[in-house]
Parts: sequence; C-alpha cells; structure tokens
Amino acid sequence: MISIGIEGTSHTLGVGIAMDGKILANERDMYKPPEGWGIHPGEAKKHHLELKDEMLKRALEKAKISIEDADIISYSAGPGLPPCLRVTAEFAGALAEKYGKALIPVNHCVAHIEIGKLCTGAKDPIMLYVSGGNTQIIGYFNGRYRVFGETQDIAIGNAIDMLMRAAGKQFPGGPVMEKLAKEGKYIEMPYVVKGMDLSFSGILTAAKNKLASQKLEDISFSFQETCFSMLVEVAERAMAHTGKNELLLVGGVAANKRLQEMCRIMCEERNAIFYPVPMEFAGDNGANIAYTGLVQYKNGAKPIEKSDFWQNWRTDEVEVNWI
Ligand code: ATP
Ligand code: FE2
Repeated sequence: MISIGIEGTSHTLGVGIAMDGKILANERDMYKPPEGWGIHPGEAKKHHLELKDEMLKRALEKAKISIEDADIISYSAGPGLPPCLRVTAEFAGALAEKYGKALIPVNHCVAHIEIGKLCTGAKDPIMLYVSGGNTQIIGYFNGRYRVFGETQDIAIGNAIDMLMRAAGKQFPGGPVMEKLAKEGKYIEMPYVVKGMDLSFSGILTAAKNKLASQKLEDISFSFQETCFSMLVEVAERAMAHTGKNELLLVGGVAANKRLQEMCRIMCEERNAIFYPVPMEFAGDNGANIAYTGLVQYKNGAKPIEKSDFWQNWRTDEVEVNWI
C-alpha cells in the first residue's frame, strides 16, 4: 500500500511517500524568516502555497510513482499554526477528492514518534519529544501515548530559537547554538524541574539578560547543558517509574549531538538502550505523515469526507490501536 503524506503545520512544507514500512520520498522546504525575526504565520502560509505543487511533483518523481498509484492521502491536521494547517488540509483534501483517494488526518506529534520507532526499531520506549512547539516525555500505556511530563511554558526548541533571535541570528536557532556551544564554557543558569514538568521561560530570560555582558559561546554552551540536563533528568525518572528500558529521542531538537550524547550516557548508566531518530527525520517532514497515515489506515482508521484541522490536537488525544 502507498501513502502520500503532506506536512505543513508550521515552518516546513513537506511531501513524503511511504510504501508500507519503506520511505520512497521525503521532499521538503523550510520557510526562513529574515535574520533576527521569528516565524510569521502568514508568510509561512504563502511559502507553502507557492511550493506545494512543485513539492508534490518532486516527491512523485523521486518515488517513481504517479499519484494514481497511491492508496491514501495523509496530512498533518494539527497541532500547528492555523494559516499553515488550513493550506495543508485544503491541499490534501483537494487531491483526495480529485483522484478519489482515502483522506487520513495525522497528528503531527504522533508522526514524530512513529517515524522514530520505524527507523530505530524501538519497541516500547519512553519518548523524549523535543521540538519548536513541544517538549514532552511520553510513554505508551493502555491505548494511548501518555504524556508523563511536559513544559509548563515554552518548548525547548522555541526557547533556543528565541535566544538566538535575540542575539541577531537567523531561524532556526538550534544548529547555530549547537555550533557556538562547542567553543563555550559554563556559566550559571537557572535549572527548573517541577516534578515531571519543566519550565524554560526563566532560563530564557536569564540567558537573554547575559547577552550584553557575556560571550555568546558561553551562553550557548551553558543554556544547552542546563536545559538538556533538565530533559535527561525527567526522561530518566519516567524510565525508572515505568520500568521501560528504551529511550527514543524525536523532534527537531533531537538533531542536537550534545543532547544525544547526554541521553546516551544516562541510558548506558542504567543499562537501557538509547535510540535517536535519524537526522533526516528529526525535523518536520512529509515522510513521517505518510507512514503514520498508512499505519492508521491499515488498522481501521476511517477516512474523513471533508478535510479539517485541529490547532491544539494533543499527543494523548489520539487513540493508538496499532500497538
Ligand atoms: P512541533 O510542531 O513538532 O513542535 P516544529 O514545528 O517545532 O514542530 P520541528 O522541525 O520538529 O518543528 O523542530 C524545529 C525545532 O528544532 C526548531 O526550534 C529548531 O531550532 C530545532 N533544532 C533543529 N536543529 C537543532 C539542533 N541541531 N540543535 C537544537 N535544536 C535544533
Ligand atoms: Fe515538528
């Protein structure tokens, strides 16, 4: 069975194609605001509108299939920015209607998880989902991906992006910070873990306040060390409480090598297995949507007649009947 997946919840427009557990194409393009600016939803929407047809064409060429060969059209139906979600839903809906295909809405967060499991072979991991919009510690239990802990304010990726933006750097801030951090040394930063939850707004403010007086390399290094320690602490506690002995790291921030290293050390120390999602599938992409849509469809998900989206659709609202 073949699924075409369309991702467009935020900055990235992606079209991926999956044939069962095989990814045949993963084309994408990220909207990049000017240096020192954040994502403007209207501009991101324009970007997606302009590129959607070309992106689909590229993906079909890469997969060497025609759209008629597909069984279903999957699309990211939330959570995300409404102007972007609308473009994506309408694009997917129009394709499904024109070519008579089943239309399957996919939760963006669940797609980040499923591609991680597919690529790594992790069976029943604790999942650390870290991205621009989300920071969650998740585990499967009784038909759902349960959120054991999460950020109480902003997401880790967003905090990184905002700090780099305040320093005049271009979006996305993650790769910029990772590079700067390599040359930095440690300065004190606030560490905020509350039970299983985290908070990043205090450390963001503290780090911004240091921009005028401290080296950006030191701020970057210290910010990463502190925030990543917080994440690893909560992930470890989730593993200890549940007895699960695998950790799966997914989402855009999973691309960070230092975060991966810290997770790996923690897992080694408790005889657990660490699985980072491969770089290609860390950030937003259409392949994870295509694959997850297919998993849902094969497990009886009913196609929807009219495309729709849900901007606040949470990870733990999805019924997971394929495990
Ligand atoms: P979601 O809706 O899943 O929250 P998102 O829209 O934020 O997704 P993703 O592509 O999953 O999109 O994640 C993007 C985030 O990942 C950005 O905040 C970006 O700075 C961050 N990121 C990318 N590469 C790195 C890196 N090497 N180190 C740290 N953060 C990174
Ligand atoms: Fe994402």
